[in-house]
Amino acid sequence: MVIAIGSDHAGADLKRELAAFLEGNGISLIDAGPNGSASSVDYPDYGEKVSLLVSGGQADRGVLICGTGIGMSIVANKFPGIRAALCGEPLSARLSRQHNDSNILVLGGRMIGPVMAREVLQVWLNTAFEGGRHAGRLMKITNIEEKTSKDEPRQA
Ligand code: RB5
Repeated sequence: MVIAIGSDHAGADLKRELAAFLEGNGISLIDAGPNGSASSVDYPDYGEKVSLLVSGGQADRGVLICGTGIGMSIVANKFPGIRAALCGEPLSARLSRQHNDSNILVLGGRMIGPVMAREVLQVWLNTAFEGGRHAGRLMKITNIEEKTSKDEPRQA
């Protein structure tokens, strides 16, 4: 499995830890940056890089980290085929895989400690999509995505 990982400055320390953890477990990694937390960077830039790697198929899945995880979630879910899930504990991580087939895990670097983050990541990596009734729901999301990309902005 190839994982793309990216962050902003607020997530860079946790990104370094998780990247080392993933590589230590033999997972191929594409590190989309940034290198270190010294300078302030904009989360949409790194969210875009990782989302494109996943939606384009160069990476199987992605991990994104900003301060809260909220900005990265907003960015990643703009991209076709991306199902990004912000998870703060293992149950959400597990269900985001089983029910939503999440392909980007988002973490809040200022919200979660490194031990919990590793546990969340491990559960997320090792849980399969259940398919069945959930597959039809994902198809509906894909249909919405396709309609929305062609439509003029519309009212609810
Ligand atoms: C950066 O200060 C912070 O706004 C960012 O990391 C993130 O939390 C945005 O959602």
